[in-house]
Amino acid sequence: MTAPTMLDWAVVCPLDLLDPDRGAAALVDGVQVALFRTGGELYAVDNLDPVGGAYVMSRGIVGSRGGVPTLASPLHKQVYDLRTGRCLDLPDVALRRHEVRCRNGLVEVRLRQEG
Ligand code: FES
Repeated sequence: MTAPTMLDWAVVCPLDLLDPDRGAAALVDGVQVALFRTGGELYAVDNLDPVGGAYVMSRGIVGSRGGVPTLASPLHKQVYDLRTGRCLDLPDVALRRHEVRCRNGLVEVRLRQEG
């Protein structure tokens, strides 16, 4: 039995520092997070590439596939759905997503502990 841990929102940076369609890496409570601002939305996922095992997802390529905002790994080019974290190329592979919001011009992240 595991109870979900509710972590606090952490301020990461001013929204202005996030260039559209370019990733940024941030350390949130000891976890490397990759942040993206694309199509007027904010997304936060683990910076860890689940296939390559390196902390590189913030340097991934933002795009879209059939209207879905995507992120391609800079290592092996697997493409992930930014909204769900699911890999569109490999079944059973996913990026861990985190919650992200903008408050008073500041980007805030709340880590999600999902299995
Ligand atoms: S979008 Fe950040 S304060 Fe409005």
